[in-house]
Amino acid sequence: MSFNASSIVASTKLSALLEKLHALSSAQENSYSQSFFYLTRLGRYLLFGESWSAGADDHMRDKFVALEPDKCQFVYLLARSMGALNIVEAGTSFGVSTMYLALAVGQNVAQASAGGGVATKGKVIATEKESTKAERAKEYWKEAGEEVEPWIELREGDLLETLKVEEGMPEKIDLLLLDIWTPMALPTLKIIQPRLRRGAVVIADNVVMSKILYKEFLTYIRSPENGFKTMTVPYSGGLEVSVYLPDDQSE
Ligand SMILES: C[S@@+](CC[C@H](N)C(=O)[O-])C[C@H]1O[C@@H](n2cnc3c(N)ncnc32)[C@H](O)[C@@H]1O
Repeated sequence: MSFNASSIVASTKLSALLEKLHALSSAQENSYSQSFFYLTRLGRYLLFGESWSAGADDHMRDKFVALEPDKCQFVYLLARSMGALNIVEAGTSFGVSTMYLALAVGQNVAQASAGGGVATKGKVIATEKESTKAERAKEYWKEAGEEVEPWIELREGDLLETLKVEEGMPEKIDLLLLDIWTPMALPTLKIIQPRLRRGAVVIADNVVMSKILYKEFLTYIRSPENGFKTMTVPYSGGLEVSVYLPDDQSE
């Protein structure tokens, strides 16, 4: 899926940067070696129950694994339509999807603050455990400039720790993007869930392609007692889009 500048409100400079980074990511993802890596991961899970490894982290250290442009643009439009001000991104890598989230937050803040009154606040909390990836993400955000950079707070380190830090964490979260190694999806959701506002959206990538690896997460989010209404949207690999409606459940 190619980049479509008409889906987002962005400067020509930012659109060009996003298009370039998506192209770099897609070249990596479409390589034989990357397909082999994903097949090996699945094989190791089926044979040994190994869902991730230090070797897999080594392999992924120089990979973008960016969310595809159509998914990024869908998430951007969703964030704009719901006026999302506070977003958590689990899994930032080189910060491509983060730029769409930050763009949406910045524009939502501007809209909410328009006409005077109290200035509205908002931010994207980005998370990355690999310091080299975090550094590169910061460089791209700097290059992107004012449309993006001011709206991001990057929490470096293991998100199972960094997302528990209260300081700077908004009381209510509007949107959670789970673009993370599959074993982290459910633990991350459980950290953020107490802060999800009613009607908040949770998005998880590749739930069809990695269905086996997402088993616990999908069982949880599809169980009505946990408060979500959810569906799989047919983007490549399957995108799970869930809305937090804790008081609206029916069996
Ligand atoms: C699929 S990539 C994210 C891609 C990014 N959302 C984008 O579209 O550009 C997942 C990232 O999560 C990071 N990650 C994995 N486990 C993590 C953890 N426990 N804490 C923080 N980051 C983690 C990986 O290093 C990797 O860069």
